[in-house]
Amino acid sequence: MIAGAGPVTRPGERATVRLRDGGPEESPRYAPEWLQLREGADATARAQDLLDPLRIRLANLPGRPGGLVVHDLGCGTGSMGRWLAPRLDGAQHWVLHDRDPYLLHFAAVASPRSAADGSRVTVEARRGDVSRLTPDALAGASLVTASALLDVLTREEVETLADACAGAGCPALLTLSVAGRVELTPEDPLDAEITEAFNAHQRRTGLLGPDAATVACEAFSERGATVRLHPSPWRLGPEQAALTEQWLRGWVGAAVEQRPELSGPAERYLSARLAACAAGTLRVTVHHTDLLALPGPRGGAA
Ligand SMILES: C[S@@+](CC[C@H](N)C(=O)[O-])C[C@H]1O[C@@H](n2cnc3c(N)ncnc32)[C@H](O)[C@@H]1O
Repeated sequence: MIAGAGPVTRPGERATVRLRDGGPEESPRYAPEWLQLREGADATARAQDLLDPLRIRLANLPGRPGGLVVHDLGCGTGSMGRWLAPRLDGAQHWVLHDRDPYLLHFAAVASPRSAADGSRVTVEARRGDVSRLTPDALAGASLVTASALLDVLTREEVETLADACAGAGCPALLTLSVAGRVELTPEDPLDAEITEAFNAHQRRTGLLGPDAATVACEAFSERGATVRLHPSPWRLGPEQAALTEQWLRGWVGAAVEQRPELSGPAERYLSARLAACAAGTLRVTVHHTDLLALPGPRGGAA
């Protein structure tokens, strides 16, 4: 099971999130199908209001011959670049980071080719562990981005990331961190219990889960950045039934893994929720938070 609201694999089904069952020290892997399924909802959810302050900061950077250099951390199949690159003006070079070479390949082949003003966008892939990023690795960066990453990191890893961004003096747009709040319509008495168990599951090995945006806000602020947080909820209705179904399976599955005594009621709950989803009568809001950190001059306040 992956920390993050992804689907659970059932016997006989093709895994949509976890591709192999590793030992405790083996990193979870994300299936491209799951990342593809969520890309549309992610794109709609992303906080547009953070774009103008970001554009202004990028426009004020000293000009570089090759344009902007953007490092996308935990890029998966590259959905962040496909969303952001066409919304920024000027030539861009995207450095795509992930530890999973399979996902990096998808990201590189489906990368955006042109910026908002038609300028050229180029990419390179870098395989590695972004939780150990150094300021040197970000030397020359204009911007660091991440999407659906912070909640699967620890506090220490987020602090390392904040150190690297502060050292490189670049802004960071860190989006779609789960907020730990979910609203389902119609309501069910088990909603709150499943939510709590899911949140506990996310935090189980010291990962930040729903605390990610708050911890990142503190970490970047302590290093002199001005931080803005903005909600970026998924609002899922009948048009997103496939995503809702997979999300429900993952959300309830993680809750049961955390609290096995919920298994009986949760199974009935999931069946009823899936039936409502198939009938088009279920609506789900999954709250996320986007964060923009703008560094101050030479590490001072912005
Ligand atoms: C939930 S997926 C999000 C992918 C993509 N950013 C998106 O929004 O679709 C998390 C991604 O982060 C990568 N990842 C997680 N922890 C990592 C780490 N410590 N180093 C490098 N990649 C990591 C995973 O391989 C996966 O591709």
